Amino acid sequence: MPVIACIDDLKRLHKRRTPKMFYDYCDSGSYTEQTYRENTSDFDRIRLRQRVAVDMSDRTTESTMIGETVAMPVALAPVGLTGMQRADGEIKAARAAERFGVPFTLSTMSICSIEDVAKFTTRPFWFQLYVMTDEEFVDNLIERARAAGCSALVLTLDLQILGQRHKDVRNGLSVRMAPTARNLVDLATKWNWGIEMLSTHRRTFRNIVGHARNVNNVSSLIQWSNENFDPKLDWDKVRRIKEKWGGKLILKGILDPEDARRALDVGADAIVVSNHGGRQQDGALSSIRMLPQIVRAVGDQIEVHFDSGIRTGQDVLKALAMGAKGTFIGRAYVHGLGAMGQPGVTKALEVIRKELDVSMALCGRRDVKTLSRDVLYVPADFEGEWSDAPA
Ligand SMILES: Cc1cc2nc3c(=O)[nH]c(=O)nc-3n(C[C@H](O)[C@H](O)[C@H](O)COP(=O)(O)O)c2cc1C
Repeated sequence: MPVIACIDDLKRLHKRRTPKMFYDYCDSGSYTEQTYRENTSDFDRIRLRQRVAVDMSDRTTESTMIGETVAMPVALAPVGLTGMQRADGEIKAARAAERFGVPFTLSTMSICSIEDVAKFTTRPFWFQLYVMTDEEFVDNLIERARAAGCSALVLTLDLQILGQRHKDVRNGLSVRMAPTARNLVDLATKWNWGIEMLSTHRRTFRNIVGHARNVNNVSSLIQWSNENFDPKLDWDKVRRIKEKWGGKLILKGILDPEDARRALDVGADAIVVSNHGGRQQDGALSSIRMLPQIVRAVGDQIEVHFDSGIRTGQDVLKALAMGAKGTFIGRAYVHGLGAMGQPGVTKALEVIRKELDVSMALCGRRDVKTLSRDVLYVPADFEGEWSDAPA
């Protein structure tokens, strides 16, 4: 068993053990990757306050997210194609999350289906919905999530149209799954990955294939998904989806205070302040930079969650201290999965909890629910001194 001290160790192993086209799919942002980089580098600009001679015994990272008790306020974010990072990846990640006591969110664009994950878990997970133009398909997905006992619908709003990741284009992953010759050679060198993949029948987007009209194979699927993200999605449609679902609703991809107020108006239970991990609007401000404004706008009226850029427990602490009630991690757990499968996801969660716990203690706090802005040093210009910013 390799020594894993931090998420970066898992990332290195993930890179070594997974075909390049799938590793790159994870470790990339859109266009120039400016937002992708700043999601992490902006966390580094915030510093923690050190306190001493404070009782640090009996600490707890336990909290709640949308009323559900969590071992720490860190959910696994929806990540498409997780089942290509490792065979049956979504099932493995969901099981790790369940055992750890944190929520797992299944992506619409997953390899394992809603039913697959429900079959291999015992507690409700969350389902992430992309709104497609095929309304029958969307209604059916909502119905399937309900039938599987999902306890929240996470509706993603920041992907009505696809940002481009240059690496995916170069690897042949964007329009049709057509790996380049170099990628085929690389695939052939990832023996363990290949053997595991051959041992599962879950190798396509199982939420979609066989459920959407005329989608029966990979190439019809890729064409369908590229043409079907609904460019007309608006707040009225969000409202209709909320009514159709009837359960807890989390709106993901909010990066502007005005949109946060709209989310409040439609009666969502929570929002996720997110820029999709820097994969959509390149040039957008980092998520952590936008968080304070959004918390000021709506934070006392709706539960505010946060993602994009979290790689350590210290990052989780910073987001919570800035007003988020909960957080999501994407790449941090996918690195664990790609490195070591289910135990790797558990390891990622353990690393983050330990870092969160120790840093919280050294800030002089014993309960994650009491974290507040006064444990942080935030640069004076952190939110930006723009000469021409939106009102
Ligand atoms: C490889 C990859 C695939 C993703 N697929 C989805 C998806 O299918 N649905 C979605 O709402 N978000 C998706 N996201 C965004 C994540 O849910 C989350 O917002 C993001 O990963 C957070 O940033 P982080 O990776 O820096 O933690 C994806 C992210 C990555 C890295």
